[in-house]
Amino acid sequence: MIDKKRASEIIKRFPEKKVLVVGDLILDRYLWGEVERISPEAPVPVVDVKRESLNLGGACNVAWNISELNGKVYIAGVVGDDLNGETLIKMLEESGINPVVVKDSNRPTTEKTRIIAVSQQLMRIDREKKDRLSQTVLNRLISSIQGIINEIDAVIVSDYGKGVITRKLMDFLRTTGKPVFVDPKPSNFSLYKGITIMTPNRKEAYECVKKDRSLPVERIGFEIKRKLGIDHLLITLGSEGMALFEGDKITKIPARAKKVYDVTGAGDTVISVLTLAKISGASWQEASSLANYAAGYVVGEIGTAAISRDTLLSILP
Ligand SMILES: Nc1ncnc2c1ncn2[C@@H]1O[C@H](COP(=O)(O)OP(=O)(O)OP(=O)(O)O)[C@@H](O)[C@H]1O
Ligand SMILES: [Mg+2]
Repeated sequence: MIDKKRASEIIKRFPEKKVLVVGDLILDRYLWGEVERISPEAPVPVVDVKRESLNLGGACNVAWNISELNGKVYIAGVVGDDLNGETLIKMLEESGINPVVVKDSNRPTTEKTRIIAVSQQLMRIDREKKDRLSQTVLNRLISSIQGIINEIDAVIVSDYGKGVITRKLMDFLRTTGKPVFVDPKPSNFSLYKGITIMTPNRKEAYECVKKDRSLPVERIGFEIKRKLGIDHLLITLGSEGMALFEGDKITKIPARAKKVYDVTGAGDTVISVLTLAKISGASWQEASSLANYAAGYVVGEIGTAAISRDTLLSILP
């Protein structure tokens, strides 16, 4: 679908491109431990924590993917006025991501803590507030975005439904005239009218139009396009690859993974490569094909959910 010479022309331009990721910022925390006994207080295991690690989650993982691909990246969103917020901002900066982040004293920084022992996740503890942003916080976020938007080549909306992505923010993003690539939260479907392209996975695509799985994905795709009034749509199909909808044409792109270890984060790699490739001159088919190769690589790696520019070039046939 894309030869190496053409791909290299496109990938070569990634470092010149600037992408703004807007969405829900999440701090992923992992507590790794051992279980030696059952608690005397309640019938639950006692975990003796041996190690703790932090990862960029939610929209931050998309920004990290762009950064790994050598694109210049800004991230806009909110954190709480708390230690986790400061930690997250520092982690973003250390990963080469420019935070355009507003502190909201009315919510905590969204944090998801996984407790892992005996090689399995025992529990996840979430700290979050999913209310829509207040008018004041929204206005501050919009004016921070206005400060950098002229430099930006494309916007990625990474919506986890935690309150950052609202009708007002989407309306504002549309007025910037920049291409908007959306990884959707189905419950916010109606907010995405008139965007450039959306990249739901299969489950999200069906949820967007509230249809049951007996209908073919082709029908779902065209219904989404019609309802949003958009020309392009990319539905990712897990082990079956992806389906690209352009006008009234569908292109099926088969999955490329040779081995599969960890599929989490593949969707973030898809939207990151798709966006950088498109703004670097690729056609939609070329950009999707590159994104599909990249996702095929990350699902085959243990503990990596991003791909570097050099690796992307090296895995192409
Ligand atoms: N089991 C698999 N085998 C081969 N390729 C896969 C597999 N799962 C995912 N992929 C690749 O990753 C892409 C995105 O996967 P998927 O449709 O599962 O997205 P997603 O559900 O949004 O992922 P995420 O876990 O990041 O939310 C697919 O289009 C495909 O290229
Ligand atoms: Mg996804």
